[in-house]
Amino acid sequence: PFILSIAGGGSTYTPGIVKSLMVRLADFPLAEIRLYDIDGERQSVIAPVVEKVIRDHSQSIKFTVTTDPEVAFSGAHFVFAQMRVGQYKMREQDEKIPLRHGVVGQETCGPGGLAYGLRTILPMVELCDFVERYAHQKAWIVNYSNPAAIVAEGVRRLRPKARVLNICDMPVAAMRNMGAILGVDRHKLEVDYFGLNHFGWFTRVLVDGEDRLPELRRHIAKFGLLTEDAAQTDPQHSDPSWVKTWRHIKPIMDHFPEFLPNPYLQYYLMPNDIVEHQNPDYTRANEVMDGREKKLFAAADEYKKTGILPDAFHVGVHGAFIVDVACSLAFDLRQRHLVIVENKGAIANLPYDAMVEVPAYITSEGPEPVRMGAVPLFHQTLLMQQLASEQLLVEATIEGSYEKALQAFTLNRTVPTMQHAKAILDDMIEANRDYWPQL
Ligand code: G6P
Ligand code: MN
Repeated sequence: PFILSIAGGGSTYTPGIVKSLMVRLADFPLAEIRLYDIDGERQSVIAPVVEKVIRDHSQSIKFTVTTDPEVAFSGAHFVFAQMRVGQYKMREQDEKIPLRHGVVGQETCGPGGLAYGLRTILPMVELCDFVERYAHQKAWIVNYSNPAAIVAEGVRRLRPKARVLNICDMPVAAMRNMGAILGVDRHKLEVDYFGLNHFGWFTRVLVDGEDRLPELRRHIAKFGLLTEDAAQTDPQHSDPSWVKTWRHIKPIMDHFPEFLPNPYLQYYLMPNDIVEHQNPDYTRANEVMDGREKKLFAAADEYKKTGILPDAFHVGVHGAFIVDVACSLAFDLRQRHLVIVENKGAIANLPYDAMVEVPAYITSEGPEPVRMGAVPLFHQTLLMQQLASEQLLVEATIEGSYEKALQAFTLNRTVPTMQHAKAILDDMIEANRDYWPQL
């Protein structure tokens, strides 16, 4: 049985992930679960909820809660990382500062994502070093920490040997929704997909060897990429803003009648529409703080007082996916999953060393990317520009370079002019004083 550490233990996602682990104990046996967070206070509120989820399924799994990295990672076989540097307060800044300048305000896309990247790369590298120092030699870090594309590139540059697999639940959530539309379980879909994290396209959706993408496109062009029953299985994605997001891929499909876009492309392809409909004073961070966060903290409080845990979190694809990936790593299952991986020719006309999102077979030594071939010029160009923006941001972080940060912001498609880039960057430097390296 494995020792598993969760870095970012105080996250509201932790109970859902642990619940996913509990229903899969037969596939992924556990001796111990450890929660690690730098915010001990927040973690101590979430921990009793997590402990209850564990005890409902197992009396034997050891449960440890700590802010000490040595305690957290000593001998660990797996680390699930889901850190949010600066928490939701800083996400709020990432979203609101660009909006003040008429630019998309989003957690991982546009200037918000770049700012978040500048906060997260070095703490993520520190986590890699803790794991290298304390954990089992063959330990894997399975990383959900955002902005995943930039974090992946930062780790590749600074710790190329670290055993980190960067993942995102967006493609698999899309697959769940496709399955719901087609009436088949998502595990029965075999998809082809190319791109970067939060910036990609499905090119084929095979069910029993037959490509159902044309049929899906027709459905999605009318109704969007979310059925009511898929929304019901996932409270997060049934939030009005997520329902809107899944519906919003319709205009992209109307304009470009091929492939199936990741919904995040809306921020890059129609930023003006997005800004027009965003409330600059109340963004997604506010919705999450007032919704998901409050609900779980209230449930933790009620559990403390009454011993009864209300149903306040959910096991969606988010938790299921990370456990699937961990199983494949642990037992060399070579399952095919969409993950973020060094290109190595998978996308023939992108750089060999770019961190791309493609299908890969997950072995115990890591992901083996599947060849997606060369992509059309339109997509290649969009991808190269986004890649350049993200790579410059990583270099800005490593070198402490203002100029490279400004180039990263200027190259981002959500940012209309160099003047916008500079104004937003300067405001963000101010807001991120406690987090960013000196630029
Ligand atoms: C999806 C993405 C994550 C992102 C999350 C935001 O799950 O894959 O990268 O963090 O959505 O969702 P939220 O409900 O916090 O806005
Ligand atoms: Mn994601």
